[in-house]
Amino acid sequence: MKPKVLVVFYSRTGNVAKLADAEAEGALAGGAEVRVVRVDDLAPAEVISSNEGWRQARDTQRAKYPEARIDDLEWADAIIFGTPTRYGNMAAEMKLYLDKTASLWAEGKLANKVGSAFTSTATTHGGNETTLLTFFIPMSHFGMIIVPPGYTDPILFQAGTPYGASAVVGGRADIPPTDADLQVAHHQGKRVAEITAKIIAK
Ligand SMILES: Cc1cc2nc3c(=O)[nH]c(=O)nc-3n(C[C@H](O)[C@H](O)[C@H](O)COP(=O)(O)O)c2cc1C
Repeated sequence: MKPKVLVVFYSRTGNVAKLADAEAEGALAGGAEVRVVRVDDLAPAEVISSNEGWRQARDTQRAKYPEARIDDLEWADAIIFGTPTRYGNMAAEMKLYLDKTASLWAEGKLANKVGSAFTSTATTHGGNETTLLTFFIPMSHFGMIIVPPGYTDPILFQAGTPYGASAVVGGRADIPPTDADLQVAHHQGKRVAEITAKIIAK
């Protein structure tokens, strides 16, 4: 049976979206059925429209990815969450998505699913690792099985973090994730798929 991997992300200027694509390609390479979905912006439309880079990124993402629904979480055997860093934390958009899970949580429907996370910052040491750790808290409340990349591939000695893939990018997508960043994300997606396959086979 193929593991079902959900890659769910929020991205304002498209960098986390690039990491999400690499996670999805990795999960496919690991034998999974994959859904990639985006969490929508919370900012008012007029604010987004007043910023050309943001508006373009929003339109591109709306054309490419379906909007995340709560039942996507129920569908998945494994969930890989992606967010830009906001003051060392996940973005409000992603937090609100997680805060809509109360009924799934109450029914234990997220328990024993595999969880993993990735992020980007604008600055080196700008909070990549702290942001990734903020996912480990709700994942623990859900009873998920956290599968981080660790140092399970040599690429982790060049990029990313043992907690999850990461990138240091330009805020307006002018400095995109590097090849090494994308390789970490690909490895993470593949590893999540492979480990999930072992778990659901039992
Ligand atoms: C409100 C706000 C807070 C941010 N906080 C941080 C931060 O703590 N550290 C950092 O390096 N970058 C920070 N950034 C920059 C974003 O993390 C960066 O623009 C993002 O990773 C780009 O990803 P995206 O292209 O997917 O939106 C912040 C940006 C905003 C708008």
